[in-house]
Amino acid sequence: DWTMAEFKAAKINEIREQVGDGKVICGLSGGVDSAVAAVLIHEAIGEQLTCVFVDHGLMRQGEADQVVSLFKGHYNIPLVHLDVETLFLNGLKGETDPEKKRKFIGKTFIDVFEIEAKKVGGADFLAQGTLYPDVIESVSFTGGPSVTIKSHHNVGGLPERMNMKLVEPLRELFKDEVRALGRELGLPEIFVGRHPFPGPGLAIRIPGEVTKERCDILRKADAIYLEEIRNAGLYDAIWQAFAVLLPVKTVGVMGDGRTYDSVCGLRAVTSTDGMTADVYPFDASFLTRVATRIVNEVKGINRVVYDYTSKPPGTIEWE
Ligand code: XMP
Repeated sequence: DWTMAEFKAAKINEIREQVGDGKVICGLSGGVDSAVAAVLIHEAIGEQLTCVFVDHGLMRQGEADQVVSLFKGHYNIPLVHLDVETLFLNGLKGETDPEKKRKFIGKTFIDVFEIEAKKVGGADFLAQGTLYPDVIESVSFTGGPSVTIKSHHNVGGLPERMNMKLVEPLRELFKDEVRALGRELGLPEIFVGRHPFPGPGLAIRIPGEVTKERCDILRKADAIYLEEIRNAGLYDAIWQAFAVLLPVKTVGVMGDGRTYDSVCGLRAVTSTDGMTADVYPFDASFLTRVATRIVNEVKGINRVVYDYTSKPPGTIEWE
């Protein structure tokens, strides 16, 4: 029976053996997995690791700042922070197809990452926070024979193109074990306990065209929702909770005026690995409070709905 301390020590040895005196590059997404992988690898090989944060502007409110302060402030791990919001938003202009949005983001991420990897002087290894469910889900999914439900966002293809080998120290772990390892490595609770966030970010929570304005609207609604969830003490009981901004406008009334604004959807699920999920059963009074706050405080939204779909048949994200 392994303790996390033993697992950590064994992995550190394994990483040192695999990497030797080679150079490793690691992409940070803002999520728990890549952060834990990076901190673990940094403990193993120190300065041989370069972390790159491709900031596509599709993060949640405050998230990019948290990544930067965790790495530069808390750990003093060197971090290349690339602010490439304009590149991503320009490329997403006019695109409404979910798979094309995912593919564009994945491809652009790799392009940006490759340029940085070359600047480092050519890394020998690419580190990734791949988890056990990621390994499984890319093989088979909801029982269907190799049907692609969604193109997952990762840096696949890059290792061959740049002749890099993969370092994936979390491959045997489930999410709760990654969190335990993160605590063992001293990551702050706000980071370790954070809900999973998909690589393509808010782009797949904005069905239809993604614009800076719609990202900003969604960030505000999402932050209110999460703040209420934290205040109610429910955050840790939920696997993922987030808002989506729908490409639908409806009529409302505010004061004595007519409004014609977007609909916001709220999603919250429980799960152990993201492969199946159940809807989180909030009290009606909680949802009413959140809906009232969002409509009152977020310009551009005048109606809020709750998503009651389990996975399967729904997926967790809307695209
Ligand atoms: P779905 O929406 O397929 O998502 O039920 C299952 C879990 O995976 C996350 N997700 C992603 N994570 N890259 C990621 O790293 C992606 O492209 C991606 N798409 C979905 C999702 O948030 C959920 O936790």
